[in-house]
Amino acid sequence: MKILVTGATGLLGNATAEYLVSKGHEVVAVDRVDGVVAPNLTVIVGDLTNLDFCDSVMSGIEAVIHLAAIPNPTDKRQHEVFSNNVVSSFAVFSAAAHAGVRIVAYASSLSAYGFAYSESWTSPKYVPVDEEHPLVYEESYALSKEVNELSARMWFSRTGISFVGMRFPWTNLPDKTYELASRAKNEDTLPPHPRFPKGIAAKALWCYLDLRDAAAALEVIVMSDFKGSDTFNLAAPDTMSDEPTVELMKKFHPKSEIRGELPGNAAPYSSERFIKRFGYTPKYLLDREELKKL
Ligand SMILES: NC(=O)c1ccc[n+]([C@@H]2O[C@H](COP(=O)([O-])OP(=O)(O)OC[C@H]3O[C@@H](n4cnc5c(N)ncnc54)[C@H](O)[C@@H]3O)[C@@H](O)[C@H]2O)c1
Repeated sequence: MKILVTGATGLLGNATAEYLVSKGHEVVAVDRVDGVVAPNLTVIVGDLTNLDFCDSVMSGIEAVIHLAAIPNPTDKRQHEVFSNNVVSSFAVFSAAAHAGVRIVAYASSLSAYGFAYSESWTSPKYVPVDEEHPLVYEESYALSKEVNELSARMWFSRTGISFVGMRFPWTNLPDKTYELASRAKNEDTLPPHPRFPKGIAAKALWCYLDLRDAAAALEVIVMSDFKGSDTFNLAAPDTMSDEPTVELMKKFHPKSEIRGELPGNAAPYSSERFIKRFGYTPKYLLDREELKKL
């Protein structure tokens, strides 16, 4: 399949483009920053907030995996995060719709629920958090994710092109996830770190996803017969903490209602809808014995 990957020199885009090439797809890689993605794959460099640039890379494309964004609200000012992420997504969706692309899979974020990046401590109303949970954010990154989900719905209603928005947690390779898990476990004794502020793992509800699972899930989506516009959570089934999830919730989010079962180290986000619809379950899980040693 001929697939356009945006954000292809970024963390998730790079892993996804490489995976798609390894699966025999023809990949068109796009980013505003040049870089090495996969052998023999040239990155088309341009800014996706420019609609003409988006139109120019859609020729013959059957599916789009849209991963370009400023991936948090702290690297840039709120206005830049919002305008870049919303305008680039709208332009990509619009160009894809006009070029007759069948399906777009795009990265939303579990941060859209508002717990991870709110300045005031924000707890879920209930766990496991499913897609029915209200979005209670107070910053531009989460807002941009919700606006993108609405843009997708609009382009589906207008043209019939399909969209799947993926609400991912912290998504990385295991070494980086162990690093975050270790910092979270020892944060009372460690000096402050700009990328890992105190409480960040608890705010993100200790969830993670391996990059390889994210890439594989995105391929499953674009290869599927999905029609419509919808948004799904997808996280590993367990947390990056070795404390039982119920105990963590009591300690850090005591007002959250615990609905149903939350056994052992179960993730407090529900990925049930995604797994049911697309039949893909994350495979690359952290080693629970390693987590105990951190
Ligand atoms: N990695 C995570 O933990 C995580 C978690 C949840 C959601 N996400 C989402 O996944 C996507 C990818 O995140 P990432 O971690 O790979 O981020 P990243 O910063 O590593 O990669 C994003 C890429 O997008 C490119 N980009 C940004 N704006 C652009 C524009 N206007 N035109 C062209 N290219 C542009 C950047 O140059 C960068 O290479 C983002 O939508 C992010 O919000 C990431």
